[in-house]
Amino acid sequence: MTFFFGSNWKMNHDPESTRKHVAEIGSWLEHYALAQALPLQLWLTPSYPCLPAAVTARRGSPLWLGAQNVHWEDSGAFTGEVSVNQLKACGMDFVLIGHAERRTLFGETDRQISLKVRACAHRSLGVMLCVGETLDAYRAGLGFEYVTRQLQSGLEGLPNADRLLVLYEPVWSIGKDGLPADPVYVQQAFQSIRVVLNRLFPVEGNSVPIMYGGSVNADNAPIYATMTDCAGLGVGRAAWAANDFLHVLQTCLQKKLATTP
Ligand code: PGA
Repeated sequence: MTFFFGSNWKMNHDPESTRKHVAEIGSWLEHYALAQALPLQLWLTPSYPCLPAAVTARRGSPLWLGAQNVHWEDSGAFTGEVSVNQLKACGMDFVLIGHAERRTLFGETDRQISLKVRACAHRSLGVMLCVGETLDAYRAGLGFEYVTRQLQSGLEGLPNADRLLVLYEPVWSIGKDGLPADPVYVQQAFQSIRVVLNRLFPVEGNSVPIMYGGSVNADNAPIYATMTDCAGLGVGRAAWAANDFLHVLQTCLQKKLATTP
């Protein structure tokens, strides 16, 4: 099973540092790909002005690049927005949609997220849909219901789950004040997400990768990475620099190789 590992670089880096870090990760990946030890898909979401530098720097490496947001319309008077076609023309493989910071800091609604997801699907651009419950919902024991609602509404009207990935990140686990989630709880969340995916997509729901993110670091990453239902990890601040990114990744690969029969 392919292991998906990546980092959302949020509002960090300039084109030059992006070029440097992407080139380092891309060249590591080219060598790793030759070894073919364990199927691996790396991904990064640099900020908009850094996307061209990232595309140039990845050269021939099979590193996925994504944007951190998108608008659902093709073009028009939408100041500050970017369309699916523009991102595809820039060489993007996917878009991160519905990140907790977009939802909580910028008021992105379930309805907008659903429009974005459908716009990407319609134009064959990959979607990494972020879901995760708030602290209030978690404390009230309503975390899984919260995430189910986000999935149902975000994926509403989607004809199939081609090019779809889900990144589960509880809001309370993200950022420097976040708490890493208990792996047992994450495993239960994965199962609950899988039930929804299978209901929405009876044919391919079972093969949609579900990843975990939220205060992942070199210490806890191997634990999440080797959980039965974990298809991958999304790492934030512990992987904004290439050497940190590769360090966290390698701790996961070592543990995965050691535990794979
Ligand atoms: P963090 O961010 O690892 O810094 O908590 C995770 C994310 O927002 O994807």
